[in-house]
Amino acid sequence: MDEIPEQPSEDDDILAVVLAAGMGTRMRSELHKSLHRVAGDPILFHVLDAASNAGIAHILLVVGHKADQVRQAAGTGVGYVLQEPQLGTGHALLQAVASLSLIPRRLVVLSADTPLLTADTLREMIEASSGAAIVLLSAHLPDPTGYGRIVRKQDGAVAAIVEEADADAGTRAMKEINSGIYCFDGPWLAANLGGLKKSPTGEYYLTDLVAMAVLQGEVVRAVPAGDPAEVLGVNDRVQLAEADRALRARLCASWMGRGVTIVDPAATYLGKDVVIGPDSVIYPGCHLRGRTVIGEGCEIGPNSIIEDTTLGDRCVVVSSMLEKSKVADQVSIGPFSHLRPGAVIGPSVRLGNFAEVKNSTLGEGVQMHHFSYIGDAELGARTNVGAGTVTCNFDGKRKHRTIVGKDVFLGSDTMLRAPVELGDGAATGAGAVVTKNVPAGMLAVGMPARLRRARAVSKEGGDAEVEKADSSGGERFGG
Ligand code: UD1
Ligand code: CA
Repeated sequence: MDEIPEQPSEDDDILAVVLAAGMGTRMRSELHKSLHRVAGDPILFHVLDAASNAGIAHILLVVGHKADQVRQAAGTGVGYVLQEPQLGTGHALLQAVASLSLIPRRLVVLSADTPLLTADTLREMIEASSGAAIVLLSAHLPDPTGYGRIVRKQDGAVAAIVEEADADAGTRAMKEINSGIYCFDGPWLAANLGGLKKSPTGEYYLTDLVAMAVLQGEVVRAVPAGDPAEVLGVNDRVQLAEADRALRARLCASWMGRGVTIVDPAATYLGKDVVIGPDSVIYPGCHLRGRTVIGEGCEIGPNSIIEDTTLGDRCVVVSSMLEKSKVADQVSIGPFSHLRPGAVIGPSVRLGNFAEVKNSTLGEGVQMHHFSYIGDAELGARTNVGAGTVTCNFDGKRKHRTIVGKDVFLGSDTMLRAPVELGDGAATGAGAVVTKNVPAGMLAVGMPARLRRARAVSKEGGDAEVEKADSSGGERFGG
């Protein structure tokens, strides 16, 4: 495998190495541990975000177990080093350092399993690094089970980290733990990493560097994380759920601080990149994901899924799913609507009760209140889509477009066999199967639909009473 690690340039003095090669056995998963999702995104992405938000431009990812999965997810923004076989965290870091042609002044080491770490904490740790061979991020946990314990000397200075597997009862009772997040003096690390010895379990523990530095009389500092939750390492699915809950709570608190009402944070699922305008209300059961932007004064939910979608101000979305769509101001969606990718919804549009829109543009004020499918279409302003209207956009081989003008009235159960165009102010009768273009202002009825007459429109804009009702029912419009 070609390894092209990210090399720090001469003026760079800091590099982050993210360890993501481990087996993650306790997850019992075909998916690499670092790619399990917390608050909607892979754990690894949260770690990479913390590093880059802390101002670290160069990131080197150590991959090994399921390396291809991890590479594919992390993409080209980071450098890679392969650890094969995986002989522990110390061995992983050794592979990274050995691949460097230039040793940075400071080397930050992160685990790919700590999704709650913040950039602020990372910055604090880096700031505390002057004169120290090692700064490690620590925390006091009520339940330290599973973590390496920080053992201190009589004078309080850090003496060593003892892994739980190797700890006696006295050490296990200690509640100060190692987060697995460090800032090393680069040259010191490069000179000493090769000196790690195999542990009784056959692994090279990165944590043994602490006792090594202490023995040499080097300074080792433990910086406590502001919030102990930040150091939560995800090793199994119970911790995965715990991390998800904690990160969601943090994201919700942050938006509440900016004037968003979140009725039940425990039942609200916000992604890290979601943006919500003030005075919007998020009801329970909402999943807002990806690059979603919600405007001001919106009411979202309950029970809606919104992904990579932009909503304007004062929109209402009830029990609906919106994907990769753009929605203007004052739009009402739901209950039970589905915007699929490419839906562009104009201002004051109303969609509800099983309305589905895909790759289509709806003009201002379009009404589509009942079960309907609009795909690969353009609907002009104020057009009314009657219940059961369907754009028959697929002929079995290709998709075709449907163009509908402004102020068009589509009767209930209209089938628009694409490609087809309806001019401004046109209308269709209930059950019309429209196979040919309908000129502006004309009414088309029947199957296949025939042009009947000019559409009669009342002074108020609605359809005028039809004088002689057709006994076939072909002109009975639905709405
Ligand atoms: C590690 C620390 C422990 C600390 C805890 C914090 C060691 C020996 N122990 O334990 O002191 O309290 O983190 O969460 O470092 N990895 C590799 N290659 C390997 C093994 C692991 O890249 O050969 C990676 C993993 O993918 C993971 C990270 O290193 O992202 C940590 O490994 P993990 O097995 O989770 O370590 P812990 O047992 O949690
Ligand atoms: Ca871990």
